Amino acid sequence: VKTNIPPRIIYKPAGLRILDQRVLPRKIKYISAENAHKTALAIKGMVLRGAPLIGCTAAYGYLLGIRKSKFRTRGELSLAMRKISSVLTNSRPTAIALFYAVERMNKSILKFTGGNRKERLTLRERNSIISILENEAKKMEREDITANYMISKFGASLLEKNSVILTHCNAGALATMGMGTAVGIITYASKKGKISHVYVSETRPYLQGARLTAWELYREKVPSTIICDNMAGYLMKNRKIDAVIVGADRIAANGDTANKIGTYQLSVLAKYHKIPFYVAAPTSTIDYNLPSGKEIKIEQRNSKEIIYINGSLITHKNASAIHPAFDITPRKLITAIITESRVFRKPNAEKLFQLKKFPATR
Ligand code: MRU
Repeated sequence: VKTNIPPRIIYKPAGLRILDQRVLPRKIKYISAENAHKTALAIKGMVLRGAPLIGCTAAYGYLLGIRKSKFRTRGELSLAMRKISSVLTNSRPTAIALFYAVERMNKSILKFTGGNRKERLTLRERNSIISILENEAKKMEREDITANYMISKFGASLLEKNSVILTHCNAGALATMGMGTAVGIITYASKKGKISHVYVSETRPYLQGARLTAWELYREKVPSTIICDNMAGYLMKNRKIDAVIVGADRIAANGDTANKIGTYQLSVLAKYHKIPFYVAAPTSTIDYNLPSGKEIKIEQRNSKEIIYINGSLITHKNASAIHPAFDITPRKLITAIITESRVFRKPNAEKLFQLKKFPATR
């Protein structure tokens, strides 16, 4: 499943090269991150973003952290694992993919920390730790690519011919290691002749819609039009919109979904206008520890990101602003959650728990 989008990250034992999404599409530029700390800074600073991509990047960041660490004993390894985990997970709180990736990396090498903490690890054991971590990060990357493809296929099957879609933020190749989730559905459906047009909301303040999604769709030859975030009501009232499709950063056990700020207002508008509202995300986005959306932690970012645009102050210098980076869409406003294993129509806790009890075999 090839995309026309440059690689989002390139892993080499010496470090990661990360496509700088802050300057796209004006420039295609990579920055280097040689350790876990630099990787965490890149995540926090929005060099890369999008839940699945954050997760996979964190996995490689973890690997680099251990690679660069000078642990000698089992106890020192355990300490290094804890430090690296906390550096990475303190970068952004909302996307579960980050925590999921770090937990998987931790678990994969847990056996080396057991027993006598003072016992030295042999060179052979050290090499084996690195290779286990490398395999785990690569496995997560492959899983994401497959999940993207399955989500795209399932999602496209829900659409009629010549559909007009509205999407928000960027849940495309630039947010994942594969073809994307919400945008993956759109590009896949477009190849099947099912898409006549896509509206892309610009997504203030980082403009993931205008800068990233519009560019991805252009490169994939899918016709699209950008709207400002405040035009969605006008659009739904006056133009034919057949479906809204968005991604997700975390889905509570009952189906309530956290996604980019502005998603909630789209879901309310879609309900009023009787437009299907789809959430596309891998099953690993479901957080079974959180009963509802109320418990999902919403990242609050610096208000300077709102009152400055490209370094220019857009209001008076004492202006105050809020910057919640995500909001919660209640499950009742979601027509279906599209995952790589199945489509949950009218999602609720019972349906999502079925997946936990009977995980699909791929
Ligand atoms: O702040 P961002 O750009 O990381 O937010 C991204 C989103 O909200 C996406 O919709 C979500 O991560 C899903 S990406 C497949």
